[in-house]
Amino acid sequence: MKVIDIIAGARPNFIKIAPIIKSIEKRKKSSDFQIDYRLVHTGQHYDKKMSGDFFTQLGIPVPDINLNVGSGTQAQQTAAIMVSYEELLLKEPSNLCLVVGDVNSTAACAIAAQKLCIPVAHVEAGIRAGDWSMPEEINRILTDSITNYFFTTSSYANENLKKLGVNNKDIFFVGNTMIDTLLANIDNLRPPAFMLDKKNNEYFILTLHRPGNVDDINNLETLINAIGEATRGLEVIFPVHPRTLKSIESIKQIPKNFNFVDPLPYLEFNYLVKGSKAVITDSGGITEEATVMNVPCLTLRDSTERPETVSVGTNVLVGTNPNNIKPVLDKLFANNWKEGGIPELWDGKTSDRIIDILEGII
Ligand code: UD1
Repeated sequence: MKVIDIIAGARPNFIKIAPIIKSIEKRKKSSDFQIDYRLVHTGQHYDKKMSGDFFTQLGIPVPDINLNVGSGTQAQQTAAIMVSYEELLLKEPSNLCLVVGDVNSTAACAIAAQKLCIPVAHVEAGIRAGDWSMPEEINRILTDSITNYFFTTSSYANENLKKLGVNNKDIFFVGNTMIDTLLANIDNLRPPAFMLDKKNNEYFILTLHRPGNVDDINNLETLINAIGEATRGLEVIFPVHPRTLKSIESIKQIPKNFNFVDPLPYLEFNYLVKGSKAVITDSGGITEEATVMNVPCLTLRDSTERPETVSVGTNVLVGTNPNNIKPVLDKLFANNWKEGGIPELWDGKTSDRIIDILEGII
């Protein structure tokens, strides 16, 4: 029996690993299946609202190991994960380390494993924003430079990897596990308690957590006031990430149409996205979910590592200049949003494809 470590540390990781675990569990019912897994939670996210609720709602089993690293600076957190995961591998090695996405846990565990000659599989490999000011971009570059098996979400990612000299035979274009989770749960989305009387298309949903948008208080104040004005009095529901909360508390002028709420569990959050007039965000994963739910999406960043959400999907790259927001929202209010489609292989079967491939290679 071969054992795969499945690494998860932060909120978007939980959404990406849930269907991979389900695929393994399904396959374990057959007696000739020779793969088992060990679920390793690094503890990067630890609050009930950032972690526990996702495990419960998505049916993720209790982790076999929790490294409990908690918060810190970029280097502190990355180093703490490397030290703890290396200790685990030295005591009990696994046959493969499977990491997802681009958070600190992704890069830290890939490094610790590869230095012990344990092969690394990266799910969501090859995406690039071309912006080194984002910690996630550094994590992508580091992880892909020491990955053995590259599972990709798009042809853009395949091309990026080929340009880096990755051998074609190690690139597996499989689709998007985040969309596996969305499609598996789409009929179970449910309203949060504060939302029961709202009608579709009568509110916006906003998320902001990138250091570049939220760490500077004046910048954040200008941004949210530009959004407040351009949304023409419609309610803006804003589930506030813990990082953003620290800055919001110091802001003096808050737009009247803003409704700040706690971070929401998966089913409630995506219920809100599905019924919204549009999503305004600086997240990457949300642009993918909005695309599949055919909801207009405005990304408040200057680049995206997920260009297919713009070329195929409903996403528009608005940039970080607050003056750009109103003209884009004016188009939405004029019912002049582009038609969106669904990127190739975002069909809910990605995790099964990944497990089929891993079965052949480990
Ligand atoms: C991380 C990821 C980002 C991902 C995001 C999703 C990196 C570099 N960034 O950013 O890609 O989109 O998660 O949320 O890995 N905190 C809590 N409770 C928690 C977790 C964090 O209060 O459960 C606080 C921390 O104390 C810290 C802040 O939130 O001050 C940021 O957390 P951190 O995990 O460092 O990065 P994120 O900004 O969440």
